[in-house]
This record gives sequence, structure tokens and C-alpha cells, in this order.
Amino acid sequence: MADANTDGRPETATDRADGALDEAALKEAGLRLEVAGAVATVTLDRPERRNAMTFATWRGLAAIGRSLPADVRVVVLRGEGPSFSAGIDLGMFSGEGGGFTDGADAEGTDRFIAELQEGYTWLRRPEIVTVAAVHGHAIGAGFQLALACDIRVVADDAEFCMKEPALGLVPDLTGTKPLVEIVGIGRALELCLTARTVRAEEAARIGLAEITVPRDGLDGAVRDLVDALLAVNAGAAVATKRLLWQAPGNSLDEQCAAERREQIGRLRDVFGR
Ligand code: CAA
Repeated sequence: MADANTDGRPETATDRADGALDEAALKEAGLRLEVAGAVATVTLDRPERRNAMTFATWRGLAAIGRSLPADVRVVVLRGEGPSFSAGIDLGMFSGEGGGFTDGADAEGTDRFIAELQEGYTWLRRPEIVTVAAVHGHAIGAGFQLALACDIRVVADDAEFCMKEPALGLVPDLTGTKPLVEIVGIGRALELCLTARTVRAEEAARIGLAEITVPRDGLDGAVRDLVDALLAVNAGAAVATKRLLWQAPGNSLDEQCAAERREQIGRLRDVFGR
């Protein structure tokens, strides 16, 4: 962690003034980034802490989103070691790395959380398809990270838990909207307000997992999915993701109009008219 910002909270230099990623800062943030052609793999890489995430981790994720090469089409998020992520580093509550309550008013805290949320929101950009490869624990902020992705591939040892209410907090890293959209309000309430664990089999049943595989098949299943995603026309993939993500908020008329708009673009692109 480096200097304090205007809210009195620590800053990291995860992305440099020239827009490039600072590798040392990424490492400090507990992240690894590998880009191979059209595929970027982001690894949560603090296995000794079960990939617990700090403010630096979320800023690092946001920086990765900002600096992703334009030809990347698929982003895979995965965890090193026994867990996908044990959520927020509990040290953040006791002031390690700045703490939550250091001298900021409500406006400052609002800005601060908005900045952290940027680590998650870029995963919905239509230009990329995001895949969470989840094994072991996906707790709190880790569960929300999986929810921020388009598709979840889940190992049979996965355990999801929205722990925030048990700690007196709310899930605030963009997870409440996708959770409700995926499992419905009743199930979302039951999961959050009991902070209970959802194992892989149930996750598949209630729609939290698109693909469930044995633990040792996770990497292979992700590879197969990535290959299938890359085999589809790139422009059509972008347009279709854009369409599908806006569908829940649109009326039928609005969605029909959106389909026409996107198809006009596709027809022009595919047939030149
Ligand atoms: N923060 C900091 N350190 C953590 C951590 C966390 N969230 N989770 C695990 N660790 C550390 C442990 O302290 C332990 O360190 P030592 O080896 O130095 O003792 C090491 O990682 C391994 O952990 P365990 O021995 O506990 O491993 P386990 O496999 O038996 O259990 C676990 C794994 C179930 C994830 C358990 O560690 C655990 O319950 N962790 C806490 C989870 C948690 O409450 N997270 C916060 C959720 S709320 C949130 O994320 C959002 C928010 O904004 C509030």
C-alpha cells in the first residue's frame, strides 16, 4: 500500500499514468494477469489467505478492466489454491490497509465504495464474455465476483456464501442485482439473510452455476467453454451480450426494437447491406 488519498485511505499504483498495468502493484493486490491472444486470465493469487481480497485487489481488478487489450474477447476469473475467494480480507475491518471508517463522511464513503465497485462492473462490458471458474469457497466479495461474471463454471467442491449480513453489512460489490435476477427475490432473501452455504449441486439447481464439473475437470471445462465462445462470430457475440443483458430491464416492445437495431448492424456487417 502506498500513499493516502483524499479520503485518508490508502492508494495503490496499480495502473500507471501511461495506462499500462504496474506488475508489482498487481502482485501486491494479490492478482495475476495472463493474456494469450483473445483470452485474458485473471487469477486471485493469495492462496495462503484463501484469496481474501483487499481494497488494492478491487482497484487492481478495475485497473485490469481499464487496460485490457482491445482484442481480448474472453476473460476468465479463477482462484489459486484451495478456494476461489474467502471474500474481503478481514484485516480490512481492523484497519489494515486503511480500514473502512477512517475519517470519511457519507459522501466520501460513497465515492470510495463506487471506486471499489468498478473492480466488478467492467465484467459486464459487451465486448468481452466473462467466465468465473469457481472452486472451494466463494464467500461474500468472492461470491459477488462470481455473480459479476456472465457465466459460472463450478467445481463440485464449491461453496457459495453471502456472509455480509452475518457481519452486520450488506453485499455492496454489485452482487445483489444479479443474485435476485438469477435466483429470484425469495431465494436471494433466504440466502442472504441466513448467510448459509450453497453447495455446488444446489448452485446448479437454482441457476448459480451454468456448468458443474468434478474438481479435477474444472480447468478442462473452462478451456472447452472458452474455445466454444471464441468459435462464435465476434461481432454477433458482442451484440447478443448487449441484447441479453438489457432484456430484464426492457418491456417487450423495447426489447423487440433493440433486437431490430442490433440485427440491422449485423446484416450490414455480414452481408454488407
Ligand atoms: N481474510 C483474511 N484472512 C483469511 C480470510 C479472510 N477473509 N479467510 C481465510 N483467511 C486466512 C486464515 O486466517 C488462515 O490464515 P493462517 O494460516 O495465518 O491462520 C488462512 O487464510 C487459511 O484459512 P483457514 O485455515 O481458515 O482455511 P480453511 O480452509 O479451514 O477455511 C474459510 C477457509 C472457510 C474460507 C475460512 O478461512 C473462513 O471462514 N474465512 C473467513 C471468511 C469470511 O468471513 N469472509 C468475509 C466475507 S464478507 C465479504 O467478503 C464482503 C464484505 O464487504 C463484508
